[in-house]
Amino acid sequence: MNHSFVVKKLNGDGLIKINSNSLDLGFGKGSDVLSMAELGFEVDAVNNNAIEIENFKSELNIPINLNYKINIIDNNIENFVIEKNKYNCIIASNSLPFIASKDKVLEIIKNIAEGLTEQGCFYITIFGEKDEWRENKNMSFFTFDEIKSFLDSLNLNFYHNTIEEGYAQTMKGDIKYWNIFKFIYIKK
Ligand SMILES: C[S@@+](CC[C@H](N)C(=O)[O-])C[C@H]1O[C@@H](n2cnc3c(N)ncnc32)[C@H](O)[C@@H]1O
Repeated sequence: MNHSFVVKKLNGDGLIKINSNSLDLGFGKGSDVLSMAELGFEVDAVNNNAIEIENFKSELNIPINLNYKINIIDNNIENFVIEKNKYNCIIASNSLPFIASKDKVLEIIKNIAEGLTEQGCFYITIFGEKDEWRENKNMSFFTFDEIKSFLDSLNLNFYHNTIEEGYAQTMKGDIKYWNIFKFIYIKK
């Protein structure tokens, strides 16, 4: 299987322990979920988009995917209770920016950190204030320093971040100006 970019990075850097539990918050088409499941993870996959959930369920019925341990959870990220110390890996890729309240996003990130087992890691993305969607009141945007200092306060080990901006395609195929911060932290 051609693993997703994120899972390739986490696995290639030896950050994840296969045959354990992982969580994907806002799984979209499910490429990170499938990659983790293929590696042997039992994956809890959260999404609140009915069409994406149905599409992903159909994909899981394809014979090569039948043995994967994937629990699809139809819920809002805001309402999903992250069990403490359960997950070796938590991914929230381009999903947290779709939550309007910045305080809620910070609370979720704190819960993500608490959901990790020792040496577990998370990969999350946050949109910066230069992003073209910045006026959208249903979304949240942070300055880099704001989010980085919050993450650094969580008593985790910093592993990696990128600051990206420029024109690129949306999932729908339009072109927009993106400003995205990507972070990997590891639980002590
Ligand atoms: C831009 S897509 C990203 C999908 C995937 N993680 C990726 O990186 O390709 C955002 C995803 O987050 C989900 N999402 C956004 N807000 C959500 C919320 N409040 N609760 C649950 N899922 C949410 C959307 O349904 C969609 O699947």
